[in-house]
Amino acid sequence: MDELGLNKLFAGILMAGLLLMVGIKLADVLVPHSELEQNAYVIEVPEGGTAVAAAPADTGPEPILALLAGADAVAGEKLAKKCTACHVFDAGGANKVGPALWNIVNAQKGAVGGFSYSSALSEFGGEWDYVALNAFLAKPKAYIKGTKMNFAGLKKPTDRANMIAYLRQQADSAVALPTDAEIAAEAGS
Ligand code: HEC
Repeated sequence: MDELGLNKLFAGILMAGLLLMVGIKLADVLVPHSELEQNAYVIEVPEGGTAVAAAPADTGPEPILALLAGADAVAGEKLAKKCTACHVFDAGGANKVGPALWNIVNAQKGAVGGFSYSSALSEFGGEWDYVALNAFLAKPKAYIKGTKMNFAGLKKPTDRANMIAYLRQQADSAVALPTDAEIAAEAGS
C-alpha cells in the first residue's frame, strides 16, 4: 500500500471513531438517563426491620416443658410400644438394639454401661434433660446427625410430652418437673 493509501486508511479509522463519539453524545441528548426515583422493583421492608427477619427463624421442635405437668404417662407407656423393639424401659433392663432406658431423664448422653454407641451420640455431650429429649424424640437424626437410632420421630408435641412423662417415671426417683422460669425460658428461646 502506498503512502496515500495509508493516509486514507487512517482518515477512515479517525472518521469512524469521530462518528461513534458523536453518536454516543447524540444518544445521550436524545435519551437522557435520569436517576430512578424508586427501585423498579419495590422490595417491602417493614419499618425498622430487615427483610430477612420475615423468614421463620426456628425449624426446631415445638416447646415441650409447658406440656409436661399435664402429660399422660399412661399414654406414654402405650407409645413406648414404638420403642420396645429396641429398648427396655424397666429397672435392670438389658441393652438390646438400643441402650436400656431406666433412669434416662437427666442422665449423661451416651453413657449406659455396656452399650456400644455411635460416635455421633457418644461424642455429642450434655445430658438428656427434657429439652434435649424433646428435640431428639421429635427427629432423632436431625438432632444427632449420624445417630444409629433408626426411628423417624414422634411428630406430635403431646405424644412427645406423654412419652417423656413415661420416661420420667421409669427411674429410681422421678426428676422434678420444669419450673415456671424454665418453661418461660424455653418458650422465649
Ligand atoms: C430401631 C431401633 C430403635 C427404636 C425403634 C428406638 N430407638 Fe432409641 N435408640 C436406638 C439406638 C440404636 C440408640 C443408640 C444410638 C446411637 O448410638 O447413635 C438409641 C438411643 C436412644 C436414646 C439415647 C440413650 C443414651 O443413652 O444416650 C434415647 C433417649 C432413646 N433412644 C429413646 C427412644 C425412644 C423413647 C423411642 C421410642 C419413641 C426409641 N428410642 C425408639 C434404637 C432405637
